[in-house]
Formats: sequence, C-alpha cells, structure tokens
Amino acid sequence: MPEAATAVVERVTALIARLHPNMSDDLDTAARPSEHADAQVNVALGLAKRIGKNPREVAQQIADQLDLTGICSKVEVAGPGFLNLTYDDVYLARLLKEVAADSRLGVHRAETVETVVIDYSAPNVAKEMHVGHLRSTVIGDALVRMCEAVGHTVIRENHIGDWGTPFGMLIEHLVDLGEVGAARELSVGDLDGFYKQARAKFDALPEFQERARARVVALQGGDTDTLRLWQLLVAESARYFATVYEKLAVRLTDADLRGESAYNELLVKVVERLGAAKLLTTSDGAEVVFPAGFTNRENEPLPLIIRKQDGGYNYATSDLACVIDRVERLRATLMLYVVGSPQAQHLAMIEAVATDAGWLPSPARMVHVAFGSVLGNDRKMLKSRTGESVKLVELLDEAVQRAAASVAEKNPELPEAQRNIVARMIGIGAVKYSDLSSDRVKDYVFEWERMLSFDGNTAPYLQYAHARICSIFRRADLARESARAAAISLDHPSERALALWLLQYDSAVWDALERYSPHRLCTYLYELSTRYTSFYEQCPVLKAESDAVRASRLALCDLSARILADGLALLGIQTPEQM
Ligand code: ARG
Repeated sequence: MPEAATAVVERVTALIARLHPNMSDDLDTAARPSEHADAQVNVALGLAKRIGKNPREVAQQIADQLDLTGICSKVEVAGPGFLNLTYDDVYLARLLKEVAADSRLGVHRAETVETVVIDYSAPNVAKEMHVGHLRSTVIGDALVRMCEAVGHTVIRENHIGDWGTPFGMLIEHLVDLGEVGAARELSVGDLDGFYKQARAKFDALPEFQERARARVVALQGGDTDTLRLWQLLVAESARYFATVYEKLAVRLTDADLRGESAYNELLVKVVERLGAAKLLTTSDGAEVVFPAGFTNRENEPLPLIIRKQDGGYNYATSDLACVIDRVERLRATLMLYVVGSPQAQHLAMIEAVATDAGWLPSPARMVHVAFGSVLGNDRKMLKSRTGESVKLVELLDEAVQRAAASVAEKNPELPEAQRNIVARMIGIGAVKYSDLSSDRVKDYVFEWERMLSFDGNTAPYLQYAHARICSIFRRADLARESARAAAISLDHPSERALALWLLQYDSAVWDALERYSPHRLCTYLYELSTRYTSFYEQCPVLKAESDAVRASRLALCDLSARILADGLALLGIQTPEQM
C-alpha cells in the first residue's frame, strides 16, 4: 500500500533526475511528517550544495515545476529552503479507504523473506525466573509477532540453561532430598530455595563437593541414572516456566525449548572445526580462541575459552555450536539474541569467532537485541521487600489483582467472570507495555501506579481508547464492518491530524521492526490515542451534523480501533471491548 509520502518522493525524485541528471544520485528526497506541514521535503538543501546555488532558489524552482496534482493541494517554500506540503484531502480520504479495506491495515510485507531465529526468554533450570527473563520474554515475543506479521519465517528458541557444572550439586541435592520430595519442592516453584540449599551445602561440606564433582563427570559421560535425575530437574523447571508463559500469554511452548544441552554432540565438532581453521590456541592449559579486537583492562588479548583445563566445555562453546546449528540446520538468515546488555561482549566474541571460522556466510547474521535492567523505586535493581530478587510469578499475580481492583472501581456493572478476563488483559498488558514502551537499551523503573494508570503512555490508556470506540458502536447498534465503506471527509483539523497519523501505521511497524525497538511502535500508538482523543472531544460522532459526516467519523473511529488493537497485538497485548 503506497503511503502518501511515497507518491511525493517518486515525483520529487523524477523531477530532480530530469532537472539535474548528473547530480541526483543519493539525494535525500524523503517526505517527512513535520510540525509545520503535513510533510516536509528537504531535498533542495542537498541539491543546492552540489550545484552551488542558493537553496531557497533551488527550492522555489522545484516548487514551481513539481506536479503534485491529486496528491497535494499546496506546496510552499519555507525556512532555508524546505518544501512544506499540504496533502489533498480527497487524496487522503482515498488512501484511508484503501487502508480500511485492507486486512493488513496498510502494513506491507517484507520484500525478502528471512528465516529468523529468535533466541529469547532463556531462564536457567532450577533457578527462579527474574525480571531480566521477563524483559527477554516480552521483547522477544513482540519481535516474534512483528516478524511474522511482515511474512518472515520465525523459529522461536528458548535457550534455557540446562547444562554445566552447577548440575553436579543440583543433582546431589535432589538425591539427598529424595526424588519425590525434591519434585514437590520444585513443582511449587521454589526454585531459588532449591538452588540456594544446594549451593550452601556445596560451599560448606567437602564431602558434598566431592559428590557434586563426580556427578558432573557422570553427567557428561552420559551415565544413565544421572541423566534420568537431570531430566527430572529439567522437566520440573520446564513445567514451571510453562506456567509463567501461560500467565504472560506469550507464544513460547515446550516445543520451543532448546537448551544448552541440545548442543552437546556438536561441541566436539566446534573444537575440531576451530582447530582445522587454525583459530585454536592453548593458553594456561585451556583451548581458547583470541578474536581480533578484544582486550582486557591491561590491554592484553582476551580469550574466548572453548575447552577448559579439565576438559569441560563452556557457555561460549555451546553458543558457537548454536550458531552452526542455526545456520546449517535451520538455514537461519537472521539470528536475534534477546539477551541483557551485560552479555554484549560475550555475544560479540561469539560473532567474531563464528565470522572468522566462516560459519556466518552472507546473508546469515547475528544481532544482539540488548536490553537494560529493571529498577525499583530506589533506582537500584528491583528487589522484593525482603531484599530478595523478585519472583516473576508473584509480580504477575499482583499485576492482575491490582488491575481487577481498578476495573471493579471503574466499571462495577461488568459481570465478575468478564471482569477477571479483562483484569488479566489489563494487568499483564500493563506489565508488558511498561517494559516495551521504554527504549530497550535503557534501564527502566518498575512502578505499579504509573503502569496501571489510565492516563499517559500506558497499556490501560490505549486499551481504554480502544474500548471507548467499541462502546460507540455498541451504543449506535452498528456492526463495525458497516463503517468501512463510508466516504471520508476531513473538514475539521483534528480529523485531519488523526487521518494523517492513521496513514503512518505501515512505517511505524517497519520502523520498530527494523530497529528491533518495540518502543517505537508504542510511541506511535500512544500518539494515535492522543490524536483520537482530541478528535473525539472536538467532533461529535453519533450526534454529527449530518448522516454523511456521522458515517465519515464512524469510519475514522473504526480504523483507529483496528490499528490500536492490531498494534497492541503485535506487542503481545490484548484489547478488551469493554473495561
Ligand atoms: N540463560 C542465560 C541467562 O539466564 C541466557 C541465555 C541467552 N542465550 C544465549 N544463546 N546465550 O543469562
């Protein structure tokens, strides 16, 4: 679906190519939304520099010769040589009608379909999921939805930490507790308790330490009974993770689990292939790779440890195996790692080594979709009242409870069954949105009042704007679809402002996707509800002055609601029709 701007850019580009055939390459011909006009084109500035003329005169020449009939009603030269454009209302109305008739709401598909592997969530077995995993899960889920929406093939991978030395002590602790007792403890979700007890014994008792070490060897050697006990730990944790995913209403399922252990057999190959590529060096008894450009504080080359002195493999080794698996078996062209910023260096080293080894042939590439921390009110890492790290489940349950209370207060007539469903949509939506709406690379402060507020850049505000539109149609006793064919007129400035924004949905989705930055879509949706609100305050809909105006406004309402619901759905957030 061509946006208004596309048509402008085409004509501007064609005109300049005709006027200045040798000067037109790579000029910035974009038509951007601006405060002073529907769109602004700044091409005259760049062109004037190239041909050595006054930018205002160049702009005037373009304005005089540019034929935007049927697209713009006005072209003005402003400032140092900007072209300020006003779109033709008839043209905008036609575009709106096309978007309304499109089930994709104007969002165009990807020109090249990619196979995108998204590595996200990735909690650790027998450890509590914390807010860091919340961020990875929520951001990853939004990226999954956005990639699918534009037609990419998406493979979800939950790279859980299910392998490595801690499993020696965890299994021995399980043996001490007895399998049944241990399973009970894990199933109630007290993963941290379990882990801490094991750790405490490991630190205090040499005998336990000994057993734990022997257990790791047995595990890596494939001892049947050890593997069975390990499996038990993994299964109990996975069951627990699944309950969290269900509460969160994210797309992850058991079928997406692909933990570190899945790469076991490939680890030997990683070493072989790195050796064959002459990348492997021995350093302090360990086999390591020194990728170019990585140094420690003393400015010495930094090694990526592939195989430790004791013969054991590392987190890095399984990540390298993972690259091979994703590129060669899954045929991934794009691999997204939704992992916290502290792992930036680790992932950069993996990428460097994989590139040097030739495991990332174009177009295959890795992108670290990094994110910052979740902070408490004290601007320090979010902690519970007792100073422990916050349990994700408790956080989610509290969100739903708080939302239920505010729904009960705002809409007491809503039947209880429905209220519970709505409370879940609002509570979980609020948690997700507060995470997604801030730039992911920054830290953000977790604040109940703010995220659950019906005002400001929050999920409840957007959900409420949507529900309000649904209620207009209920009051008018009108099917939503019936509004879509109406002729749209844009006589009031707030109608126009809303219309212009509705036509930006395609670029908002793409902009968020190309930068792997869901917050950009949040910002778009927030601005949409703000513009909708001022339209609604200034333009009576059901009591409009004529049937034609009423139909036109209903069409704008319908399209606004659809884009709100669609955009929130891309973020993994549901939209109740009543709240
Ligand atoms: N399990 C790790 C953690 O909790 C995250 C794993 C991220 N993914 C990866 N391929 N390294 O920190």
